[in-house]
Parts: sequence; C-alpha cells; structure tokens
Amino acid sequence: MSDIAALVLAAGKGTRMHSDKPKVLQTLLGEPMLGHVLYALEAVFAEAIWIVAGHRAEMVEAAFPGRQFVRQEQQLGTGHALMSALPALQAAGCSRVLVVNGDTPLLSEDVVRTFLDRAANADVAFASITLPDAGAYGRVVREGEAVRGIVEAKDYDPAVHGPVTGEVNAGIYLIRLDVAQELLPRISNQNKSGEYYITDVVALAVQQGLEVRGITCGQDESLMGVNSPQELAAMEESLRTRIVQGLLAAGVMIHAPQLVRVAPRAVVEPGAELTGPCEIYGNSHVARGAAVASHCVLYDSSIGAGAQLRSFCHLEGATVGQGALVGPFARLRPGAELGEASHVGNFVELKKARLGPGAKANHLSYLGDASIGAGANIGAGTITCNYDGRHKYQTHIGEKAFIGSNTALVAPVRVGEGALVGAGSVITRDVPDNEMGIARGRQKNLPRKR
Ligand code: UD1
Ligand code: CA
Repeated sequence: MSDIAALVLAAGKGTRMHSDKPKVLQTLLGEPMLGHVLYALEAVFAEAIWIVAGHRAEMVEAAFPGRQFVRQEQQLGTGHALMSALPALQAAGCSRVLVVNGDTPLLSEDVVRTFLDRAANADVAFASITLPDAGAYGRVVREGEAVRGIVEAKDYDPAVHGPVTGEVNAGIYLIRLDVAQELLPRISNQNKSGEYYITDVVALAVQQGLEVRGITCGQDESLMGVNSPQELAAMEESLRTRIVQGLLAAGVMIHAPQLVRVAPRAVVEPGAELTGPCEIYGNSHVARGAAVASHCVLYDSSIGAGAQLRSFCHLEGATVGQGALVGPFARLRPGAELGEASHVGNFVELKKARLGPGAKANHLSYLGDASIGAGANIGAGTITCNYDGRHKYQTHIGEKAFIGSNTALVAPVRVGEGALVGAGSVITRDVPDNEMGIARGRQKNLPRKR
C-alpha cells in the first residue's frame, strides 16, 4: 500500500445527532465511531492514515493522541475536506488516497482490502451499496453500466436524473492525488446544501474521460453511515450481535447472549463464561475458564484463567490473576492488580493497589496506593488513608500480615510481614515484622447509671 494513504473525513458537526459532542466521538460498544474506522484502516495502512478534524477539532484530536491530523477550519463540505488534506498527503509522497467517511463505524479490514483490489488502477473509484430506501444517501447515476455521477439526495430530481434505483454512494473513495488536485478546485457549491461535495469529483472525472469505477457492494450494511441516534443504535446493535455470535461460534459460553456487550478489540477466550447482562469494553481480556457473572462492567481489564467475577463488579484498568475470586459488588479502579487466587469481596474498592497471591480483602474496604503481600488478610472496614488533601502516599502490608477490622492505615506507613494490627486501630507509625500494633482507646467498664 506504499503509494496509497488513507484519509478519514471527521470534521463535520453531525447536526442530526443533536449532541454537543462531535459525531465521530459518539460511541458504539464503548469505542468512538472514529476509533472503529481507524481500527479497520490500521490493519491495511499502518501509519499512513490522516484524519480531517474541524468541528471541535481539539476534542477529536485529544481523543486520538499520536494520530496525524489535518485541520479543516471551516466545514464547507466533504470536497473541501479532501482539499484541505491534499498538501499533507502530497508531502507524504503518496500518489493515491483512500477517502473514508468517519461515520462508517462498521467498516472492516476485509471490506477495505476488497474495495482496494476492485478499485485497482481506476483514476476515481467509489463503493456503492443497494438499499431498499435510498434515504439521505447520494444516488449513483449510471447510463447502462457506466457511471455518470453521484447526485446528493437533496439535489436529486427524477425528471433530470431518472428514477431512483436504490444504488447509493457508501462514502469510500480511491482517488488519484493528481486527479483530486486538478478537479477539486473546479467543484462548485451551487447546490441545495451550499457545500463543496467530494461526490462531484465523480461526474467531473467522467467528463474528463478518466477511468471511473462504481464498485457495487450489494447490501453490505458495514458500509452504512451513521447520522442520527436511531442509526447509531441500530449499527451498535448489529455490531454487538456480530461480535457475540462470533464468540459463541469460537466456544465462549454465553448465557443471555442478547444482553452481552463485548467491544471489538476485547478478547474473550474460548472456554470463558459470560452471563448477561454484562459489558466488556476497550482492550479487556477474559481468559479461558474465567467467568464473568451478570451486571459486571469491564474497561481495559484483564481476567486470568479460572478467575471469577461475581455479579455487580465494576473494573477499569484492572488485572485479576488466575483463580482469583472477585465480588459481588467489587470496584477495581486503574492499577488494581490481584494476584493468583486472591479474594476481593463485597464493597471493596482498590486503586493502584497490588494484592499478593492468596491475599484476601473480603469486606467493605478501600485500598489505594498500596501493596499487600501474599497471604495477607485485610479485615472488614480497613481503609488506607492515602491522601492528605495535597499528596498521595503509599501503604505497604507485608506477607501474611493480618489487619483487624475497622482499621485506618494512615499513609505513608508499613505493616511488616506476619504483623498483626488490632481491630479498630488508627495506625500512623510502621508496625515491625511479626509484631502486633494496636492504636485505639482502651476500654473502660463503669457502673451503669439509671
Ligand atoms: C455523504 C455523501 C453521500 C453518501 C454518504 C454515505 C457527500 C456530499 N455526500 O453524505 O453521497 O451517500 O456520505 O454515508 O459527501 N465532513 C467533513 N467536513 C465537512 C463535511 C463533512 O470532514 O465539511 C465529514 C463528516 O464528519 C462525516 C463525513 O464527512 O464523517 C460525511 O459527511 P456527512 O455530512 O455525514 O455526509 P452525508 O450527508 O452522510
Ligand atoms: Ca453521513
């Protein structure tokens, strides 16, 4: 693909979404629309991908750090968007560009490769799909087999352009850069939208006698655009079904599959078990033999082989070791790392905290900025007081230490290996290995006054 670059048009506002968020940042299965498109392109183009941003460009750029952006300061139409990107594409030394609408989230690597093969040496090529209702799509106008042009829905006049056929423009194009350079300055905005349409390049190229190819892709829904909340919901549901069916076919055990949501980049190994409703997003990984019960939500988290997430767990950037037992009602925040066969029970929150193999925190605790040694036992109601209002501090708990219930560990503090902390303590100084620390008011028993 060395002479072809990919360009994603993502500068539009998405008026029909009625949202302050740029349309390409609306999510399907937890991933922005633009992320889905980039994911499909990345497999084919590696680094040679540019994105045109415009409406709330800073927000779009911030959501995709490390990507190459081109600004379209005013959104004057899709043709103008390509025009804005030409200098960057030329500087990169490519001779053709694959242009993709950023609102086509079901695009796949396969579709991209097939389109490129079929477009091969055309001067201008575009993909078309056939729909029962052409809706708001640009209509493909042909004379016999030969493409004459693409006419936008608003501008379409059957008296002039002939009866609507249902063949519409999918919004993917392969265009020679020199052709784009020559023809784009000639397109006009004298149309119902007052915009410069990329689609006008097609008719201009035909008039020039160039090789123009309209590549028919049947009813392929993966090429449909998303313009409204209804379309977003429908596409998301269709993507969800496709992913869940794929997992079932691969050997993942799924109960209530209609309620299971797994993001495209998440990996669930065959032999894992999921119970709906549950949501597994981002780069999460669920290993063979692991079970995720109902009402769990995972973002970018990894569940080791044979580990069990009981109902109502919320995980973000967490790692759960093999055979660990989590929940119900556990919250694992970024940097939570649970060792092999460790236990985290109900109403326990971990953040940047490592729980060693076999360690247990079974009830009602907050463990933040902490390391907890293998086999340690954290009693109910233990709190690491890691924040003094300005800075965060670390708590270290040694192997096989025992923290009595309702203990406050005021960080920075270290409880040694095999040490014991009496229930109800407020620990402000280190407890040496194998010693007992106790820090609470001594009990007095007095005669009862009546
Ligand atoms: C576009 C096509 C239409 C096609 C449909 C397929 C044009 C004129 N029409 O229509 O033929 O059937 O896609 O889904 O291209 N964008 C910019 N800068 C702009 C305007 C838009 O970057 O100035 C981006 C948008 O963010 C979006 C994409 O281009 O990702 C397409 O724009 P959109 O307004 O959704 O075009 P459609 O009306 O759907
Ligand atoms: Ca669109």
